[in-house]
Amino acid sequence: MIDDFPPRPLSADAQLSARHLTAIKDLSDEDLANLFRLAGWYGEALRLRRAVPRRLAGKTQVNLFFENSTRTNSSFELAGKKLGADVLIIPVAASSVHKGEELKDTVQTLAAMGPDAMIVRKTENGTCAYIADVLQKGELPARVISAGEGRRSHPTQALLDAFTILEDLGRSPEDGLTGVRIAITGDIRHSRVASSNARLLQRLGAELRFAGPEALLPDRDRYQGASFHTSLKEGLEGCNYVMGLRVQFERMGDGFDFSRESYYKQYALTHKSLLAAKPGAKVLHPGPMNRGIEISGALADDPDSSLVLRQVANGVAMRMAVLDLMLGEDGA
Ligand code: CP
Repeated sequence: MIDDFPPRPLSADAQLSARHLTAIKDLSDEDLANLFRLAGWYGEALRLRRAVPRRLAGKTQVNLFFENSTRTNSSFELAGKKLGADVLIIPVAASSVHKGEELKDTVQTLAAMGPDAMIVRKTENGTCAYIADVLQKGELPARVISAGEGRRSHPTQALLDAFTILEDLGRSPEDGLTGVRIAITGDIRHSRVASSNARLLQRLGAELRFAGPEALLPDRDRYQGASFHTSLKEGLEGCNYVMGLRVQFERMGDGFDFSRESYYKQYALTHKSLLAAKPGAKVLHPGPMNRGIEISGALADDPDSSLVLRQVANGVAMRMAVLDLMLGEDGA
């Protein structure tokens, strides 16, 4: 690192404790602290346009996305490239998946090319654990990193969201989120982002609320200690942060009765509905956003209230931290 930019803040041999990152539960408290600290350092380096150590030089990363993605796919690609990895983006729509190739064969085929990590997004719960099992049985060394699977898990999204809140508060990982009230609103039932965020935000000490129509709230017994609200106004009361979620029409199934106008009126995050939260409350959204459904364009674009683009920027820094702590080597 040149000039007066501070050195990388962790010891060269610091690593995540688990071999694969499939869910927040794979991360120890020490892992979380290391990730937040390193993401802060990478974020600052990116902001100041400083060169970063090529901790992934000689490594190969495969992005295997069976579902569409703008943010996660591109930020993992950027993160790997900035750290010096060879990054292979699999164009699934143009691949042999569409000739009927089974997941096991696709994974074994790509793994035989010798990647160090496979970044995977897929619709079915348990895909990343299945891939990790295929790799282990084949004695293939690649590690698996979830880029979002099923309705349960999107760990790097939760990490970047929690990091964004800590950064906004000016808190360290050790301070955590004690005394911070956060509402997750909208289509929680179908959201992998909500599930991973709930686990992580509660672990960091936040008080968690869910607000949305009854049909889109999660099962109560999955989230001990959270409160559940069908009134957005009640759910937002006293909240420091509000995370809006996309209405996931593709996961609703047939027979879901949805009125855009009625939903917007009752559950959209707008400057008006945000008045129910604490004064100065900030809004997050993992994207992609449905403007005019779960959030107003005016609020999403309001730099005083919206952290949406900060989340996107932090996504690159956090994914650099994840890749570094899973694959990185000093002097590579
Ligand atoms: N937040 C998120 O996962 O966005 P993408 O689907 O664009 O990756």
